[in-house]
Amino acid sequence: MTTASAPGKIILFGEHAVVYGHPALAVPVTQVQATADVTTDLATDAEANKPIKKDLGEKNWHSRIFIEAPDIGLFFPLEALLLDQTPHPLAAVIINVFQFLGITSHPALKIRVTSTIPIASGLGSGAAVSVAMIRALSAHFGHTLDNEQINALAYETEKLHHGTPSGIDNTVITYARPVYFVKGKPIETLRVGRPFTIVIGNTGIRAPTKESVGDVRKLWEMDKKRWEKVFAKVGTIAQQARKAIESGKSDGLGMLMDENHTLLQELAVSSPELDRLVSMARAAGADGAKLSGGGRGGNMIALVKPERAELVASALITAGAKQALITEIS
Ligand code: PMV
Repeated sequence: MTTASAPGKIILFGEHAVVYGHPALAVPVTQVQATADVTTDLATDAEANKPIKKDLGEKNWHSRIFIEAPDIGLFFPLEALLLDQTPHPLAAVIINVFQFLGITSHPALKIRVTSTIPIASGLGSGAAVSVAMIRALSAHFGHTLDNEQINALAYETEKLHHGTPSGIDNTVITYARPVYFVKGKPIETLRVGRPFTIVIGNTGIRAPTKESVGDVRKLWEMDKKRWEKVFAKVGTIAQQARKAIESGKSDGLGMLMDENHTLLQELAVSSPELDRLVSMARAAGADGAKLSGGGRGGNMIALVKPERAELVASALITAGAKQALITEIS
C-alpha cells in the first residue's frame, strides 16, 4: 500500500480579491489532513476486470480502479464517476495523473480517500484530497513528482471544484508552508517573524466556493470599477499584513483582519452565522476576526493572544460553532 497525506489550510487575508490578481496570505493547518491509500488489488483483479458497462469502449480499463471515500459515502468503480459530462473531481485527479505519467495499463487498484478536513468549509479539503491522491498514485507507480508538478496537477482539479480558482489552495497545501500568493506569479514563502495564534471556528454550514466565487463575479461584471476598488483595498490589507507578519510586529494584524472582514461583507460573501462567530470572538478578547475562504458558511478565524485561545475557542462553541481549532502560525 502507498499512502500520502496533505494538510488543510486557512486564508489569513485576501480571499476573493486574489481571484482578480491581488495578493493573499495563506497558511497550512496540519491538525486536519486528507489521506490517500493506493493498493494493488490482485485478489479481485479478475472480478474488477469485467467491464461494468459494455458501451464504455476504451474506458473499460477504468473498471480496474475502485474508489472508496467513506466520508462522502462514495464507493464506486472509476468508470461510474466518468459518466457525467463533468467528471467527478476524484476521478479527474486519477485520469490527470495517469495521463501525466503516461500510464495506460495497470493491475486492479483500490484507492481509499479519508479526510479530517471539514468539506466545503474554506479549509481546502478538495485541494488536500487532490494533493494526497497525486502523491500516493505517483509514488505507487514509482514516480517522484516535484511540488511544481503536483501543484499544477492539483490546480487542474481545483477548476472542477471552483470554476475560476486563483490557485491559492493547491499552492499552500502542496508546499505546506505559509505563502504570499499572487495568481500566476511564482510562489513566495511568507516568513513569520514571530509566531502568532489563530482560533478557527466552523459554522458547520457547507458552502461551495464555486457559488460564492460565481456571485462575486456577477457583482464585478455589473460594476467593475466599484468592485475593483474593493479588491484593491483587500490587496493593500494583504500587503500590510505581510509586512506585519514578516517583521514580527503583529500588533496591527487584528485590525487588518477586522477591515478585511468588512470588505468581505461588502462583497456579500459573509453570512449571519459567520458574522455572529466573528463578533463573539472579538467580544471574548480576540484581537481581530474575519471569515476565511469562500464564505457564506464554512470557517472564520480569530487572531488571539496565546493565553486567550482556549477562552475564545469555547466562546465560539457557545455561540454555535460546530468545531473550534487552535493553531499556531510559525
Ligand atoms: O476554498 P476556499 O473556500 O478556501 O476558497 C478559496 C479562496 C477564494 O479566494 C474564495 C477562491 C480562490 O480560488 O482563490
